[in-house]
Amino acid sequence: MTFKPFLVSLPIFVLIVLGLGGVVSADAAQNKPAAPASQGEWTLAIPFGLDDSAMVVPADNPLAKNKVELGRLLFFDKRLSKNNTIACASCHMAQFAFTDGKQVSAGIHGLKGGRSAPASLNRLFSNAQFWDGRAATLEEQSVGPFVSPVEHGFANHDEMVAKMKKIPGYRKLFKDVFGEEITIAGVGKAIASFQRTILSGNSPADRFDLGGDATAISPEAQKGLELFRTKARCTRCHSGFNFTDEKFHNLGIGWDTNSVDLGRYMVTKNPADIGAFKTPTLREIARSAPYMHDGRFKTLEEVVNFYNGGGVKNPHQDELVIPLELTDQEKRDLVTFLHTLNGEGWQHVKAPTSFPK
Ligand code: HEC
Ligand code: HEC
Repeated sequence: MTFKPFLVSLPIFVLIVLGLGGVVSADAAQNKPAAPASQGEWTLAIPFGLDDSAMVVPADNPLAKNKVELGRLLFFDKRLSKNNTIACASCHMAQFAFTDGKQVSAGIHGLKGGRSAPASLNRLFSNAQFWDGRAATLEEQSVGPFVSPVEHGFANHDEMVAKMKKIPGYRKLFKDVFGEEITIAGVGKAIASFQRTILSGNSPADRFDLGGDATAISPEAQKGLELFRTKARCTRCHSGFNFTDEKFHNLGIGWDTNSVDLGRYMVTKNPADIGAFKTPTLREIARSAPYMHDGRFKTLEEVVNFYNGGGVKNPHQDELVIPLELTDQEKRDLVTFLHTLNGEGWQHVKAPTSFPK
């Protein structure tokens, strides 16, 4: 039996336990009816190539303009950390496809977690969030980092809400948006709404594949797309318009080290999930290096070489991962194709010029 839970490195374990604790029940208990209709629904412009029938917007948190704007303020505001140094945007930066460009993220006091920040866009189309899917909704995800000791550093959500209540500008905004005082559920709803507006579509690959523009991508990228769907087997998991099956797979990442992150298994305790991680979107992938949950690969070439070799063998590896026998030219074509997945739908996101006082 090679399953060795004691090898899980401590920081990851702490992160996971905290990520699961309390958050869901607190939110559920405080769920309030939908925001007043007078706020006006927000009509999102969905970029070409994305499937608007797949949008996940909970009935009790409809998109509204003022809620999205509140969420943007909260996402960028460093006062929402124990010592005013960390905001969501510290680790999720637009230019890096809303990651931080680091192998693993550094939060409050420079403390490092055990995982790399994934490209946090097109969250509108997913239920389960995080590499291990431990947040069942984006609302739940949106309040997790505040109480992580290696992210925003609050002891609990009450501590943060108490701090926010000292800022009259936020008290007013929450009244305007939710018709009530600041609550952690409101914080989650506002940040989730903002995150739902960070999209990526209308890439050259979309224009070629769906838009009938035969010159939108180069002949090499076209070969890469063909390989992506056939010999390279990528669409077995990176399927559909958002290049993900929204499922969890064990590729073997970490099984060549002495501290394996057990991933999805820590959430479900189902042995089939040992070492499995969520298939991430590949949109904007050329911007979001380094890659994989442990940020081990600096380049897409390294990623393709990894798959070509059949991943890292381990007793729990997904049987979809097999050696590919791609030629050097085929590997290059595949990487060229991956570069055509940069698109638009996120460029409007800017840091606020001022924050509530
Ligand atoms: C210290 C850096 C850091 C901070 C601060 C931070 N994050 Fe993250 N974020 C990460 C890392 C690392 C992960 C991956 C963790 C995991 O999956 O276990 C992540 C994952 C996510 C995901 C999941 C994306 C997906 O594809 O599943 C979302 C969404 C997200 N963060 C939004 C936020 C929001 C909103 C905030 C502020 C409340 C925030 N993050 C604060 C580093 C950070
Ligand atoms: C068996 C399912 C599966 C197959 C097949 C597969 N992937 Fe993945 N892919 C995943 C999963 C799961 C992850 C995250 C794994 C982890 O970090 O442990 C991932 C991660 C990635 C990443 C890194 C993403 C990031 O944000 O860090 C890239 C790039 C990638 N895959 C490209 C490809 C390409 C190209 C192919 C085809 C050669 C491919 N994948 C085949 C499931 C798959």
